[in-house]
Amino acid sequence: VVNISSLYKDTGMFTYDPGFTSTASCESKITYIDGDEGTLLYRGYPIEQLADHGDFLESCYLLLYGELPTKTQKDDFVTRVTYHTMIHEQMNRFYSGFRRDAHPMAILCGTVGALSAFYHDSTDISDPHQRMVASLRMIAKLPTMAAMAYKYHVGQPFVYPRNDLGYAANFLHMCFAVPCEEYKVNPVLARAMDRIFILHADHEQNASTSTVRLAGSSGANPFACIAAGIACLWGPAHGGANEAALNMLSEIGSVDRIPEFVARAKDKNDPFRLMGFGHRVYKNYDPRAKIMQKTCHEVLGELGIKDDPLLDIAMELEKIALNDPYFVEKKLYPNIDFYSGITLRALGFPTTMFTVLFALARTVGWIAQWKEMVEDPSQRIGRPRQLYTGASKRDYVPIDQRR
Ligand code: ACO
Repeated sequence: VVNISSLYKDTGMFTYDPGFTSTASCESKITYIDGDEGTLLYRGYPIEQLADHGDFLESCYLLLYGELPTKTQKDDFVTRVTYHTMIHEQMNRFYSGFRRDAHPMAILCGTVGALSAFYHDSTDISDPHQRMVASLRMIAKLPTMAAMAYKYHVGQPFVYPRNDLGYAANFLHMCFAVPCEEYKVNPVLARAMDRIFILHADHEQNASTSTVRLAGSSGANPFACIAAGIACLWGPAHGGANEAALNMLSEIGSVDRIPEFVARAKDKNDPFRLMGFGHRVYKNYDPRAKIMQKTCHEVLGELGIKDDPLLDIAMELEKIALNDPYFVEKKLYPNIDFYSGITLRALGFPTTMFTVLFALARTVGWIAQWKEMVEDPSQRIGRPRQLYTGASKRDYVPIDQRR
């Protein structure tokens, strides 16, 4: 039996908070969420306004610098990001080292970590200029590297960045252009992709962002910190839920089977949950889900997909659940993942790429949070405590006397 009080006699106040549900690890001025109201603000600006009127690179500037850019600042920022879109040619060899059937998240995690070996100057994080260059490099190179992970995954040759295209349009071009065939990016789809990036850009201290901050608190190379965030995001409880939501809609298969699945979700003896429903913070409609639903309709409309059976199922399921006392009482509303899978699939991405797209967009949030932490003089190396429940102190037993 362990005498816990003697083990913790020197610690002053000690809290035990599994999952950090009620412990703030930092102060931050970047993103605000009001889960009861269903509000999400980047630097004070509502996500709805940023998604409707702005573009992703403008949101990147806002998250990094704290203010929306003027026209000159925006042009300069876009030019600087565009300058960094290429990756070192030698990086290609990293891709060919992966098995052809490797998951694109495994490839992204490895190759982003490898960037730290190409940019030793970024190791000096005490230099504000180096911090900014590292930030621009990551925002610029992630689309190139995500597209390369996709191309390698599907066995097609890499497509180099086209700097005459916008951020999202260039990404679609790198993913879907193939040699010997003309490919023209559809501006409506590029706009939808850009909006999806805005919606995923930051979400305060979630698991992957906290991972980036914790890794960065030791002074580690920023590319390695982002690779740590990508690893954390990969889990099905975090970035993988959109894939699960799409699979669930396929499993339901038709509108008349919805009541059966709703009943299963309410049955406490059945582990099944409605994927894309509920959120740790939002106890109201996830504001990103509304925008994602609108974007989904726009994408399907543009592609001339009049009847997508999965969208019909999703909309009917939402209607039934929002009128069911179980979901109403527990405040379970659709989250961002509910409609994103249908949208990304319509854009042409396989489910294995869904989390990669999330990582691409979240990179700016991770960097903004990393930068805020590095620039905060009160921050110390992250070192969570533990509640030790193991053996008390005891003497070593020679091997021939052990039983
Ligand atoms: N379907 C059915 N019941 C649910 C659901 C759901 N999707 N979500 C929560 N509940 C129920 C739980 O069974 C629990 O019921 P109880 O009080 O009778 O035990 C109650 O609602 C509270 O659920 P918790 O799991 O305690 O809530 P928590 O805040 O820990 O979990 C989570 C939030 C993980 C998102 C949960 O709602 C869930 O599993 N949803 C489905 C997966 C999903 O969509 N994840 C994506 C989240 S968004 C993102 O990561 C970008």
